[in-house]
Amino acid sequence: MCGIVGYVGPRNAVPLLIEGLKRLEYRGYDSAGVAVRQPDGALAVCKRVGRLANLEDALEADPVAGGLGIGHTRWATHGEPSEINSHPHLDCAGDLAVVHNGIIENYLALRADLEAKGHVFRSQTDTEVLPHLIEELLKGGAPNRGAAIRAALQLAKGAYALGIAFRDEPNVLYAARCGSPLIVGVGDGEQFIASDVPAILNRVKQVIYLNDGEVAELRPAGVSVSKLDGTPVRPEIKAVTLKAEAAERAGFETFMLKEIHEQPRVLRTLLGAHVRKDGTVDLGEAEALIAAQAPRLQRILILSCGTAYYAGMYGRLLLERWTGIPCETDLGSEFRYRAPRLPAGTLAIAVSQSGETADTLASVRLAREMGCPVLGICNVPGSTLLRESAAALLTQAGPEIGVASTKAFTAQLMAFALLALRLGRLRGALSAARERELTAELARIPDAIHRALEREDDVRAISQKYYECYNALYLGRRFNYPVALEGALKNKEISYQHAEGYAAGEMKHGPIALINEFLPVICLCTPTADEVRDKMVSNLKEVEARKGRIVAVVAEGDDSLRGLAHDVIPVPETIEELSPLVNVVALQLFAYHNAKLRGADIDKPRNLAKSVTVE
Ligand code: AGP
Repeated sequence: MCGIVGYVGPRNAVPLLIEGLKRLEYRGYDSAGVAVRQPDGALAVCKRVGRLANLEDALEADPVAGGLGIGHTRWATHGEPSEINSHPHLDCAGDLAVVHNGIIENYLALRADLEAKGHVFRSQTDTEVLPHLIEELLKGGAPNRGAAIRAALQLAKGAYALGIAFRDEPNVLYAARCGSPLIVGVGDGEQFIASDVPAILNRVKQVIYLNDGEVAELRPAGVSVSKLDGTPVRPEIKAVTLKAEAAERAGFETFMLKEIHEQPRVLRTLLGAHVRKDGTVDLGEAEALIAAQAPRLQRILILSCGTAYYAGMYGRLLLERWTGIPCETDLGSEFRYRAPRLPAGTLAIAVSQSGETADTLASVRLAREMGCPVLGICNVPGSTLLRESAAALLTQAGPEIGVASTKAFTAQLMAFALLALRLGRLRGALSAARERELTAELARIPDAIHRALEREDDVRAISQKYYECYNALYLGRRFNYPVALEGALKNKEISYQHAEGYAAGEMKHGPIALINEFLPVICLCTPTADEVRDKMVSNLKEVEARKGRIVAVVAEGDDSLRGLAHDVIPVPETIEELSPLVNVVALQLFAYHNAKLRGADIDKPRNLAKSVTVE
């Protein structure tokens, strides 16, 4: 979603802001802007709708410069994408500028009150109440700007990450956080703020993760942090461990393609971290929580959104099969509206690439209030989810920049496999010998994915036949039902081809009406011998009878479906429980090449945000 970058120091802020905003482009945005305090004392603001290149062109045509600046990429919530609605927003006098991520929920009441006091609003945004409110509090006698900001934030309800610059205070950059991530980049004689580490990766070696309810004052010489009531806080300064190259494309045409190809390495890393030489699983930081919970667990509840929800569906099947513990999944956006019942002995597992998804976080908070311990399966160390979880199972996939999740998904599946194995052993549902057999099979997955990736040219040739279709149907059963859902989501997200994922057995209850000679039906048909395979073949026959165009993902060497399917994508065979890890890679490539052939902007799909920080 929206991105924030800010700078205070001896250099010209403008190129630093633009560089940082470029590194945040992946989060999704529709307009961008900067405010810079110029040496002549003016607070210059420049905003443009559309890509950052438009803002860069405007700044080149009419340059601004100064050592204090804030920048923003906006993903519209309140008010259409327009120059007026894009950030930064100013107060009436043009004395202060604000960039904001999140939503001020009581903005209508605040706005009405401020308008009654004579403030003139220019935009339709919720954000604009903040500069006017701070202006009003300063007029009303707030002792200093920090105090006015803190007082304003006590009145504003909702979520925010903020960067604030004042015309008359060229050496101070203010920042605040509540519910939306914000970090302070601690430099040598200069300081940064950013909504995400990649924005300032090559600029600082140390960061402070602000906590909810904290306000920071950044001066070139140092950073001070306080709570909303003014109490000083001693911030914890952490080293940046990410390498700058991790946020580069490394020669690939898009981040998404790079991340698809990173999957074997990512899964090897995860296995290396959690499988001992003797083939047993060690959950690392999560071990203590899981070992303590194992004897008393009655139920597992998995909470997540989007792709992470499909990983949760897979996790449910695997946990039930390998541990015998009843398990349910729910969408973060639905869970808290259904009056959930969480009996004692329930463990909540929250799955999220970013660890900042507002709906997932809200459901985690409710589960915690109801007494559940929470295990976070997450890719971002230091994220809000991990800070609010009792323990973490890090997916260690490295920064995922492509908006469409790929490597984070397979890492989530692998994390569930490790968790189910460990819990299965602790509960006595799996023998030591079975654990070793299964970890040996897990160890073969990275190579299997590597081989699936080697088929990319064949997959591209198949996409060539179907990319112009209006619709696509994806079918799978049991462990491959979540894969069908994820394959369809990937396709619609980046290629805008309408795609439906369905449990193959459900097809005859509705979607069969869609089938004709123009509809590609992508069917997950591995492994060759499991109890749902025959049923899957029957479903393929039903598609064939209605002249649907079958694209089957099959096991290498399985020629039995060649007469039935128009196209096959062979992938290495593994056990059914682990087949999603390999099969989904074929679907990622299929979606990717559909999107490319359709001329889509793959790393910046329209309307989407990488990290959905509003509910
Ligand atoms: C994945 O391709 C999507 N862009 C989206 O569904 C995503 O998985 C979802 O928003 C959840 O994000 P999270 O994993 O960061 O919580």
